[in-house]
Amino acid sequence: MDLHQGEHQKRPLFSGRLSIIAVAAGSAIGLGNIWKFPYITGKNGGAAFIIVYLCCIALIGLPVLISDFIIGRRGGGSIVTSFRALAGKRSPWLFGGFIALFGSATVLSFYGVVAGWSLEYIVKAASNSFAGKSPAQVGEMFGSFIVSPVEPIVCQLIFMTITAGVVYAGVKKGIEAFSKVMMPILLGIIVLLCIRSLTLPGAEGGIAFLFKPDFSKLSAGGVLDALGHAFFTLSLGVGTMITYGSYINPKENLAATAVQICIADTVIALLAGIAIFPAVFAFGVEPGQGPGLVFVTLPNVFAQMPGGYIFCLLFFLLLAVAALTSSISMLEVSVAYVSEDLGISRKRATLLLTALISAVGVVCSLSMGEYQEQLTFFGKNFFDLADFAVSNVEMPIGGAISVLFVGWVLKRRRVQDELTCKGSLTVPLIGAFMFAAKYLAPIGIAIVFLHSLGLF
Ligand code: PHE
Repeated sequence: MDLHQGEHQKRPLFSGRLSIIAVAAGSAIGLGNIWKFPYITGKNGGAAFIIVYLCCIALIGLPVLISDFIIGRRGGGSIVTSFRALAGKRSPWLFGGFIALFGSATVLSFYGVVAGWSLEYIVKAASNSFAGKSPAQVGEMFGSFIVSPVEPIVCQLIFMTITAGVVYAGVKKGIEAFSKVMMPILLGIIVLLCIRSLTLPGAEGGIAFLFKPDFSKLSAGGVLDALGHAFFTLSLGVGTMITYGSYINPKENLAATAVQICIADTVIALLAGIAIFPAVFAFGVEPGQGPGLVFVTLPNVFAQMPGGYIFCLLFFLLLAVAALTSSISMLEVSVAYVSEDLGISRKRATLLLTALISAVGVVCSLSMGEYQEQLTFFGKNFFDLADFAVSNVEMPIGGAISVLFVGWVLKRRRVQDELTCKGSLTVPLIGAFMFAAKYLAPIGIAIVFLHSLGLF
C-alpha cells in the first residue's frame, strides 16, 4: 500500500510554493472571508468572537487541512482515488471520498448563486445605482433582485461559465495561472479598501469593535459558529484540499504550506473586517445586520462616502474575484474524479459537471422567489437546505473522516514521511499534530456537528 505520486505519473504538479499558496489560499479566501466572516463577527459581538475563531483555526482547522494535504499527496489522485490508494479498494473509507464529492458539488450549486449576485452588484456599482437612494430603497433593491426569476439566474450562469472556463483550461494553465494573477489583485483591492475605511472620521469605533474583546457578548452559539466557519473558510471536508494536495510536489513542506494558508486566509478575513467595520461605524450604521451586511449595509455606506463610487465598484470586484478562485477549486474536485476514475476526458467532464451543478444552482435560486412554496423542504427553502446540508452536516463529517483517517488509520511512519519529505526536513510538533488529529479535532468536530443538528 505504499503508494505515492509515482502511481499517477501523468498528474500535473503545481510549480512551486508560491503557486501552491496562490491556488490553495485562493480556494480558502472567498465569500466566506468577505461576505460571511464580517457578518457573523458583527452578529456575535466582534473581538471576543474573533479570538475564539482564531483558536478554532489553529487547533482544529489546521490539523484537518494538514490531514487533507497528506491524504491527497500520499494518495496521489482525485478524492476517491486517493482514499482507494491508501485504504484499499473496498474499504469503507471510500465513503469519505464519495460524500466529499457530493459536498463539493452541492456547495458550488448555492455558492454560484451568491457569487452571481456579486456580478450583478458590479454592474449596479458601475452604473451608480445606489446614489441618492435611501437605506430602505437599497434594501428593497436587494430583496427584489434575489427573488426575481431571471436576473439572478443569468448572473449565476455567467459566473459558472467563467468558473468552467478556468477549470477547462487545466490545472496548470487554468487554475494555477488564474490564481497567480487574481490573488495579488485581490490583495491590492482589499488594502486600498482598508486605507479608505481607516481614514474616515469616526473609524475608531469599528477598530475597537474588531479588536477590543467583550466576552459578555459571546454566546455558546457564537463559539459553534466560529468552529463551523473555520471549516467553511479553509475549504475543508469537501475534498478540495485533498484534490489540491495531490498536485503538490513531494518535496514541498506540507505543514509549513498549511500554516501559511491558514495565516493568509485569516489575514484576509481580518482585512475584510477592517475594510468594512470602520466604515460602518463612521456612518453610524448597525454592524450586526446579518447576511445583508455586504449587499445592503455596504452600498449605503459607500453611497455616503467621499470616493464611494470607485470603492463600491472595487469592493464588488473583490467579492467576485474571491468567489471565483474558490469556485474553481470546488469544481476541480468532481472534474478530477470523473476524468480520472470514469475515463471521461477532462474537458468533457468539466462541461458535464458544470451543466449539472448549474442546474441545481438554478433550483436554489428559484427557491428564494416565486417557487419558494414548491421548493421548501423540512421548513427550509432549497437554497438554505443545500447550505445547511453542506456547512452543518457534510463538512464536519468530511473533515472528521480526514483527521480520523490520518490519526488512526495511516501508519504513523507514513504520516511522518509525508510531513518530513522522507526525513529530509525537520518538522517540529509532529506529536502535537498527531494528538490534534487523533483526539482534539474529532472531538471538536463532533461537538459542532451534534449542536448543529440540535442534539447538543
Ligand atoms: N473557503 C471558501 C470561502 O471561504 C469556500 C469553500 C468551501 C471553497 C468549500 C471550497 C470548498 O468562501
